[in-house]
Amino acid sequence: MLFTDRVLTGIRPTGSLHLGHYTGALKQWVSLQRRYECFFLIADYQAMTTHADRPAAIRESIREVVLDFLAVGLNPKKRNVHFVLQSWVPELNQLYTLLSMVTKYSWIGQNPTIKTEKKLLGGDMTLGFADYPVSQAADILFVSFRLSAPFSSILVPVGEDQIPHLELTNRIARTFNRSYGKVFTECKPLVGDVGRLVGTDGQEKMSKSLGNAIYLKDDPGTVRNKVMRMFTDPNRVRSDIPGNVDNNPVFIYLNAFAETRSQQERVQEYKERYERGKVGDVEVKMFLVEVLEGFLEPIRDRRRKAEGEDIIKYLRSGTRRARVIAKATLNAALEKAGLTYTDLNTRR
Ligand code: TRP
Repeated sequence: MLFTDRVLTGIRPTGSLHLGHYTGALKQWVSLQRRYECFFLIADYQAMTTHADRPAAIRESIREVVLDFLAVGLNPKKRNVHFVLQSWVPELNQLYTLLSMVTKYSWIGQNPTIKTEKKLLGGDMTLGFADYPVSQAADILFVSFRLSAPFSSILVPVGEDQIPHLELTNRIARTFNRSYGKVFTECKPLVGDVGRLVGTDGQEKMSKSLGNAIYLKDDPGTVRNKVMRMFTDPNRVRSDIPGNVDNNPVFIYLNAFAETRSQQERVQEYKERYERGKVGDVEVKMFLVEVLEGFLEPIRDRRRKAEGEDIIKYLRSGTRRARVIAKATLNAALEKAGLTYTDLNTRR
């Protein structure tokens, strides 16, 4: 099969993946592998922007992320699906060096995602943190080339917070292309339909550091406990008064995970009863547990099988394919930028 577009996306290995990763990213990735050549990059260097003092955690997370990938149905046995380990592709570092030469320092500081992360980190940033968006541009733009021509388009399925990075990537691509000739293909963001999932506590985002996440690998008891402790409508102090289903985490999850027709009908029914003060939180939560179990059980099953698989082999073969393409892109870029010196023996 011939694929006309490429998909590239990445994730930092800083922990196991949770429901928020699923709705915001993985779900869409799984369906993209049917139609495109896909590169799923595990960005271990980028993980060091926050975890440089925890190499064991990064190592552990690489394994976890691969298992989670396999569990949700990403399939590296398909010829068009590649799991890539960032640090195993030295061409990315080379490309990054070249791209950094056409990137204005001032472009980085304007990036809102960097601003937020800077605040979270507090204090003294590393140089690696400050310019990881340029490294990420290399992560993306390396798929620009097929054999000897730029590719038609690069699709990057990501969460909304990554948009500034993709804009920067395209700014860098355009600047390079204008200065030296066309090498890089601009990328297009693909933002999923559900997008970011709120935490079990109703905070904007599900995340490990906030302790409000339900993990794909959580066992049924853990899922049940987390759901039972979930926030609902804060103004509904008794279950016989009308409640609000919008901005209510329990209903947000039901909307996201009720899959079958009958589940969706029951969600509708619960919403109506909830708004009339005719159902208690506990009953709705028990239903959410049921819905989540229906979703998670097959995922846990595949994960159990994946535990015994040769994970390194998947990473090696995906990385091998990435390097072939990265080399082609890098060579084209070096040549256009004038960094080929095979004729140095003679004056030009
Ligand atoms: N910055 C992304 C995140 O934090 C991870 C990432 C690294 C990425 N390289 C990428 C995403 C390339 C898209 C493309 O989630």
